[in-house]
Amino acid sequence: MKNISKAKFIITGGAGQLARAFCKMLDRANADYIALDIDKLDITNIDALSKVCKEYKPDFLINCAAYNNVDAAESDFETAMKVNFTGPKNIATVSVELKFKAIHFSTDYVFGGREQYIPFREQDETSPLNKYGISKLKGEQIFLEISPKNLVFRVSWLYGEGHQNFIYKLLQWIETRNEILIANDEISVPTSTYFVAKNVLEVLNANGLFHLVPDGYVSRYDYAKFVLNKLKKDAQLKPVSAEYFKLPARRPNFSAMDSSLFFNLFSLEKKHWSEYLEEFLVERKFE
Ligand SMILES: NC(=O)c1ccc[n+]([C@@H]2O[C@H](COP(=O)([O-])OP(=O)(O)OC[C@H]3O[C@@H](n4cnc5c(N)ncnc54)[C@H](OP(=O)(O)O)[C@@H]3O)[C@@H](O)[C@H]2O)c1
Repeated sequence: MKNISKAKFIITGGAGQLARAFCKMLDRANADYIALDIDKLDITNIDALSKVCKEYKPDFLINCAAYNNVDAAESDFETAMKVNFTGPKNIATVSVELKFKAIHFSTDYVFGGREQYIPFREQDETSPLNKYGISKLKGEQIFLEISPKNLVFRVSWLYGEGHQNFIYKLLQWIETRNEILIANDEISVPTSTYFVAKNVLEVLNANGLFHLVPDGYVSRYDYAKFVLNKLKKDAQLKPVSAEYFKLPARRPNFSAMDSSLFFNLFSLEKKHWSEYLEEFLVERKFE
């Protein structure tokens, strides 16, 4: 991490899982930061945002706030758009006015899937299948349109400390269900929040759009098997098609992303998703 102890940061969505990883990294680096969740700073309120930024005078604002309920977004598109489009629009606007750098996160769900398992690159055509994906795509576009000097990272299947992730849910399910059905036709890249935070803090002076995920990809079913195996937990897992769940939002069959642009450009190390996950589960090693 380059000299971040001399910079000032605001983290929005401060109670979320990615925000917590940033806070841990910034604590370790002795950096000057404030982390604010919606009760302290609602990113959809531009006046409140502008006031906090004028008072605190950040060098960087890292936007970890989002509306992430993929299924609920189908019936509440208005709220999803407010948080995922108006929020980043406000942040980009204030960043230009007050001259700080803003960093935002998007998702693999901007892609609509593909038959051939070739991970998506930054320039590939987007075609979100659900309203969450539409709101996130519009958010990343307006964010960089207002300020191309800002930074957007597309991430996927985040896990870290907190309850809003697949690993936590899986561990809950095995306590309460005899058999757990998991989709084997949804494929992407499990990504550690610590991996994201560490790499973002290395490149704060960059700009533009990057995919930021480890190497490889996996189905939800094999991901679940991997987690339970590493934790030595016994459970009856059954692979099924995602269609079985009849969820309100459609998901892409394959939305793994290729992050070689980022790792080649900045000469940073990336490993296979399974190595980070094993470190998280077994060694409790947070980079
Ligand atoms: N989680 C994933 O698997 C995943 C996958 C792809 C991309 N991403 C993206 O990665 C980023 C970080 O995700 P995450 O998993 O860390 O999310 P998270 O754990 O759900 O955290 C988001 C935080 O933002 C807060 N928030 C919601 N509306 C807000 C508002 N108007 N103003 C301020 N804060 C608000 C949420 O509060 P409440 O909980 O009270 O709503 C929550 O604390 C997001 O941009 C997300 O879209 C995540």
